[in-house]
Amino acid sequence: MKRVAVVGAQWGDEGKGKVVNYFAKDFEWIVRFAGGANAGHTIYVGDKKYVNHLLPCILPDGPGRGFLGAGMVVDLEQLVTEVEVLAKDFPGVGAKFAVDPEVFLVLPWHKQQDQLLEAMRADPIGTTGRGIGPAYTDKASREGIKLCHLFDEKMLMERLENSWVIKQNLYRDQLSMPPAELAEALMRQRDRLLELGVQVTGAVDMAHVFRSTSVLFEGAQGVLLDLDFGTYPFVTSGSCMAHGVSSVGFSTFELDDVAGVLKAYTTRVGEGPFPSEDDSDEAQGIRERGKEYGATTGRPRRVRWPDLPALRYAAIRSGLTSFVITKADVLNGLKTVRVCTGYRIDGVVRDVPSTSHDFFVAEPVYEELPGWRTTDDVNFLKYMTFIEQQVNVPITYISYGPRTDEMETKSRLIMNI
Ligand code: IMP
Repeated sequence: MKRVAVVGAQWGDEGKGKVVNYFAKDFEWIVRFAGGANAGHTIYVGDKKYVNHLLPCILPDGPGRGFLGAGMVVDLEQLVTEVEVLAKDFPGVGAKFAVDPEVFLVLPWHKQQDQLLEAMRADPIGTTGRGIGPAYTDKASREGIKLCHLFDEKMLMERLENSWVIKQNLYRDQLSMPPAELAEALMRQRDRLLELGVQVTGAVDMAHVFRSTSVLFEGAQGVLLDLDFGTYPFVTSGSCMAHGVSSVGFSTFELDDVAGVLKAYTTRVGEGPFPSEDDSDEAQGIRERGKEYGATTGRPRRVRWPDLPALRYAAIRSGLTSFVITKADVLNGLKTVRVCTGYRIDGVVRDVPSTSHDFFVAEPVYEELPGWRTTDDVNFLKYMTFIEQQVNVPITYISYGPRTDEMETKSRLIMNI
């Protein structure tokens, strides 16, 4: 049975939604395993655009189904809205989704805490404000609320009351929505979700299904935003790597492929180190051509040249076995493409940073490659070969536009050149 994980190989926003949506026709289940509504995965059905923040990028009009795994943190209100939006165009689509009762909930408190903490930080992280950090913090500190708690009202109230007392001590009167009001809202959202046909079923009960069919695991954000190995503290709070599939009961050894999605250049939204820094007009022009504005927050993304040390690090950390390159067309027409091939750290040029701290002190070392007119140009092929040889991971697919069908295999592209 085919099992593939698709993860971001950079700082997120590589186009994972489109890539997952393209592969979706070959898989029975698409499974999100981490993150929350901080993600913004854009898909097209025909010419119509949808941005999924929580929902896995299934084909809404296809036979496949989507699962929200226990590593996620789920804002129920947002989930209901997303299903409602899709259900308007695809009646009954809710029944194509199941969510693990072990997921932790993002509560309104978490979103308020997210804003308050950012305001208190001397060096703000530039979070999406979706309550992700506080929700994962509550999970780790054992104050979290799981979806399964909504099916035991007594326990839900007890847990909310306990958590509220702690939060009141920490935040005084800065948080709104006391437990009774919140419990009522959560129960309403739970009922609406069930009314829309979404099933609440855990990975334990789904194990026999997942193990007897094809599964595509849809990662969120990118390896360099991973809580453990990204550019800490300028990271998200969930797992962005393939090993996150463990929250759905799988081991990475069971994966046939860990596909890293790689944008032909580099972007990052939010604060934190970004070594392939270059503020030339050319680099900034890429932002406009690539429409580099966040799908979740609308913030302009920081745009830089391709960064091979960062890719090597991501490939090692997340065990990437292939690359899918996206947005190659955005670089069309440049005379030369500057590629960061090394990081100078303490005076020594290195191929790959050893630690997440190295990203903070690295100075980029560049090589220039000839640009290309279109992605059918031989120079684009040379660019891809350069990346493959330098990072030691093969590029298998190329995405050359936002629509789902604007993608082809590398071998097909070579035949056209
Ligand atoms: P948080 O996940 O909202 O806490 O944000 C932490 C950092 O991760 C910030 O720099 C965000 O901009 C970044 N981030 C979170 N989700 C995404 C994403 O889906 N794409 C790109 N950056 C993200």
